[in-house]
Amino acid sequence: MKIDEAKEAVKAILPAKRFNHTLGVVETAEKLAVQYGADVEKAKLAAMLHDIAKYFSKEDLQAVIKRRKDIPDDFLNFHLSLWHAPVGAAYVQEHYNIHDQAVLDAITYHTTGRKDMTKLEKIVFFFGGLYRTGQRFSRSERGQGDCRTKPG
Ligand SMILES: [Fe+2]
Repeated sequence: MKIDEAKEAVKAILPAKRFNHTLGVVETAEKLAVQYGADVEKAKLAAMLHDIAKYFSKEDLQAVIKRRKDIPDDFLNFHLSLWHAPVGAAYVQEHYNIHDQAVLDAITYHTTGRKDMTKLEKIVFFFGGLYRTGQRFSRSERGQGDCRTKPG
């Protein structure tokens, strides 16, 4: 899927405010990918698609998590706000035929992170998962307080 197609797909699914946040994430992801030597096209695509399932209903998110073998069932014990990440990866795989594991993983782990993340995963995690466009980092997001910040 090309970035322009992804943009149109996301625009049709997300509310305007979240779509604008996404465009900010894409812009930042592109700059960071250049700066740190990550794949720029993959970073842009993952950033564009990372929140595609953000506004799916709780029931729809739950159904995908239960159905997909690659999402652990105990993920349902995690907070609801985390669910859209692996569900988003499953969605783009099933609906847009995206099978690039690096892109899928960057979407999957953008709310939780994981051990030994790739550059691509870190970029989407920090700027898609934690950072909200137009806001400064809070103390917790800077690692100076507790980490009970709500993921984006
Ligand atoms: Fe998100």
